Amino acid sequence: MHLHLALIFCVLCGSSQAATYVGGVLLTNTVWSSAGSANPYYLTQDVQVPRNVTLTIQAGVVINFTQGDFEILVKGYLKVEGTASQKVTFQGGSGSDLKYMLKFQSTRLPLTSIRYAQFKGPKSAVQITNSAPGLQQNTGKLVIESSIFSDGTTISANGIYPRANYSSVPSMEYISCSFSQTTVSSINTDSEPIRILNSKIFYGIFSPLASNEGIQIENSTLRNITVSYDRQVTGPSIFRLNTSDITNLTIFYSNTYYYSSNTLATFVVGQSVIRDLNIAISTSFSSFRPVEIILENSSIYNATTSYISTYYWYSYPPPPKISIRNCKFTLGNLTLIMGYYDHSLSIVNSILTKVNITAPSKNDLGSNYLIKSFAMRNVSFTDGVIYLPYHQAQIVYSTITLRSPLTINGTSTILCSSVGRSSSIVQANSLGVDAAGLSLSRSTIKNFDIGLRVRPVSVYAVNISQTNFQSNTQYNIDNKGTYDVLATGNYWGTNNAATITNKINDYWDNINYGEVFYNNFTANPLAAETGCAAFDENQYTTTTPPPYYWGK
Ligand SMILES: *[C@@H]1O[C@H](CO)[C@@H](O)[C@H](O)[C@H]1NC(C)=O
Ligand SMILES: *[C@@H]1O[C@H](CO)[C@@H](O)[C@H](O)[C@H]1NC(C)=O
Ligand SMILES: *[C@@H]1O[C@H](CO)[C@@H](O)[C@H](O)[C@H]1NC(C)=O
Ligand SMILES: *[C@@H]1O[C@H](CO)[C@@H](O)[C@H](O)[C@H]1NC(C)=O
Ligand SMILES: *[C@@H]1O[C@H](CO)[C@@H](O)[C@H](O)[C@H]1NC(C)=O
Ligand SMILES: *[C@@H]1O[C@H](CO)[C@@H](O)[C@H](O)[C@H]1NC(C)=O
Ligand SMILES: *[C@@H]1O[C@H](CO)[C@@H](O)[C@H](O)[C@H]1NC(C)=O
Ligand SMILES: *[C@@H]1O[C@H](CO)[C@@H](O)[C@H](O)[C@H]1NC(C)=O
Ligand SMILES: *[C@@H]1O[C@H](CO)[C@@H](O)[C@H](O)[C@H]1NC(C)=O
Ligand SMILES: *[C@@H]1O[C@H](CO)[C@@H](O)[C@H](O)[C@H]1NC(C)=O
Ligand SMILES: *[C@@H]1O[C@H](CO)[C@@H](O)[C@H](O)[C@H]1NC(C)=O
Ligand SMILES: *[C@@H]1O[C@H](CO)[C@@H](O)[C@H](O)[C@H]1NC(C)=O
Repeated sequence: MHLHLALIFCVLCGSSQAATYVGGVLLTNTVWSSAGSANPYYLTQDVQVPRNVTLTIQAGVVINFTQGDFEILVKGYLKVEGTASQKVTFQGGSGSDLKYMLKFQSTRLPLTSIRYAQFKGPKSAVQITNSAPGLQQNTGKLVIESSIFSDGTTISANGIYPRANYSSVPSMEYISCSFSQTTVSSINTDSEPIRILNSKIFYGIFSPLASNEGIQIENSTLRNITVSYDRQVTGPSIFRLNTSDITNLTIFYSNTYYYSSNTLATFVVGQSVIRDLNIAISTSFSSFRPVEIILENSSIYNATTSYISTYYWYSYPPPPKISIRNCKFTLGNLTLIMGYYDHSLSIVNSILTKVNITAPSKNDLGSNYLIKSFAMRNVSFTDGVIYLPYHQAQIVYSTITLRSPLTINGTSTILCSSVGRSSSIVQANSLGVDAAGLSLSRSTIKNFDIGLRVRPVSVYAVNISQTNFQSNTQYNIDNKGTYDVLATGNYWGTNNAATITNKINDYWDNINYGEVFYNNFTANPLAAETGCAAFDENQYTTTTPPPYYWGK
């Protein structure tokens, strides 16, 4: 009955070109060896390893997929037993093949082992997938060790395992592997997790669509990497990089269809070193699905953002939500686009040097979409730019030196912070802070030509207390709004009342503007930020983000 499917085992004796031709169902445990002239093994049809059967492929075996679009389908067990000096090679086949070299389905994955294999693309290498509901599914973890993937091949988690239906989900783990020009992808929100440990990944493309554990990389070296969120899924795609060394990574996020607003792509870097990070966002159709980028406990060098929008209907790129925590970040150019969707940037417990954080001066969507959020807490920010004319800022416990005016809007807060001028710019014509509504307290603004320019949009929308204004040459405060400003208990750089008044530009200099009411000024510098109690992160984590608007 099984005869027509049985293994074809044909060594071409006497021929100078020896080979073994394989295909069909392996009815008994089978060993492929490189002994004699057995190599290469050509698949002339699919090789199928049924349940309870083991296919063992010994060191040095070469398997060639050139004869057609065939696969080795494993429902039983596979042992790939290469060695460091004699790998097992999977090669041949075409990039347009639909089948992968190895496919695992309905098997107990831990009973398979793959060591020292080499998969040469462009044919796809390894996939795990589900079988029809009700049938035996893959269980456990497939571990692939010390193997090489190259030449445009692909590894995929192709199964669909809704967490509601499956209490445990199978997974793939790659240990001490090397990937070059390889795509690592999960096709669906509910696909199996992929973990890569202790590996080298050069010219990799990640397409991480699965939620929950998603794709996770630890203790690895990555170079020239693209993480591409370019397909539609309904859940939060997760990509995590941990304890790794990364150079030249692009997060490419593009959306070509309308999709739900509630799904996030989450990109997390922790305990790593990342250089040349580029966040590239593009859309060509209405899309609201933002990417969330979380950088933690890491050292970041040279990060940039870029956006492409083709402006069709509301085709604003979904703005990323970026969170930087416990990082050392040197050299950066983060441009935050304005858009239909809310977005935010928060930086906590970090040291930033020569980082520019900017947003366009024009709000594409008009005042209905005014306020975005920006938070900087316990940050040392040196020699940078913060130009966020449509953001409401919360700046607490930070030490800032600026290369251009710190420009913020909405109802912003500056507390227990110091804002000064970068030594790289001259004092003449320099401006420190440019804000609309502002609560400025227990802080110092120093070394500018004009320390603070405000544009209050209601009575006492600007309120200043227990703050030092020091060494600002022209004005400490320049009120360019029509409303009055309240300033209580501040130090103005002098104990001379006439000088204090001269350094305030308000109604009494131009009656189009509001007044600055100051009282209870101090004769000596205040402790201000240096007198604040220690920073307590928990006091700020629950801050309500500012509102955003969907339109009228
Ligand atoms: C074959 O596998 C099935 C399940 O995969 C198992 O229940 C059965 O005991 C196995 N039979 C043998 C002979 O190992
Ligand atoms: C396998 O197939 C490829 C593509 O046809 C060929 O270049 C290669 O030589 C083959 N390998 C072996 C060992 O026969
Ligand atoms: C998951 O379970 C739901 C019902 O609970 C069912 O409708 C759906 O088809 C199942 N999906 C899969 C992939 O098993
Ligand atoms: C990290 O990976 C390297 C190989 O790249 C390995 O030697 C080392 O033991 C790994 N460290 C940990 C903590 O796993
Ligand atoms: C960064 O990696 C991409 C491939 O992802 C490559 O095209 C580009 O040349 C690399 N850039 C640098 C500066 O290495
Ligand atoms: C990364 O890409 C650049 C530019 O193409 C290349 O010079 C460099 O060798 C690549 N690095 C690795 C590790 O492949
Ligand atoms: C990161 O990796 C370290 C070391 O492998 C581990 O202890 C830690 O739990 C990992 N963190 C995350 C968020 O995966
Ligand atoms: C910063 O990274 C970009 C790629 O993202 C690269 O082109 C550029 O040369 C890098 N600049 C520095 C100063 O390293
Ligand atoms: C920083 O970003 C802005 C806006 O995208 C761009 O005009 C400028 O050229 C960038 N600067 C560098 C050094 O990349
Ligand atoms: C940051 O802005 C300053 C001043 O505008 C500029 O000189 C510098 O090149 C910018 N840096 C980056 C990385 O774009
Ligand atoms: C602040 O927002 C208002 C809209 O409420 C806008 O008119 C103004 O131009 C913004 N400020 C700056 C400095 O862009
Ligand atoms: C006067 O200012 C000082 C210093 O800021 C402050 O400690 C004190 O509470 C203020 N007194 C009143 C009545 O506002």
